[in-house]
Amino acid sequence: MSAEETLILVKPDGVARGLSGEILRRVEAKGYRITDLRMVTASRELLAEHYAEHEGKPFFEPLLEFMSSGPIVAVRAEGDRVIEGFRSLAGATDPTTAAPGTIRGDLGRDWGVAVQQNLVHGSDSTLSAERELALWFA
Ligand code: RTP
Ligand code: MG
Repeated sequence: MSAEETLILVKPDGVARGLSGEILRRVEAKGYRITDLRMVTASRELLAEHYAEHEGKPFFEPLLEFMSSGPIVAVRAEGDRVIEGFRSLAGATDPTTAAPGTIRGDLGRDWGVAVQQNLVHGSDSTLSAERELALWFA
């Protein structure tokens, strides 16, 4: 059986703040393997597909605007239970309450804007990982 894969995104706030290296360091230090990586300024179409589950929510438009505000580092990572493991490294969605020790808890904060800028995305299931990897690494 081949190892599990996930999609990790360093969001525009993470790239703009110069934290891509620190974030990828944590992924590698945990023991996961980075097998592909690209920097991309995402189109609205790609982002709308990526976040299709959130269409209609009040933060959807601000989310698309935030995610298209600058380059993103898209990463393919692999390892046993990497989906769950990276979500655990990332921490809770709200960076104010994300646990210290996590990426969002250590490096993120609230900036008083319409959507949480929380540095990273990680796929949340094998199904979304497969779908998202196909979108970002077509
Ligand atoms: P992600 O999909 O980006 O990995 O984050 P997540 O699973 O932890 O959170 P999710 O519920 O999927 O939300 C997607 C992204 O939308 C922004 N968000 N802001 N109330 C808010 O201000 C709010 N709610 C969600 C965040 O950037 C979140 O990561
Ligand atoms: Mg999500």
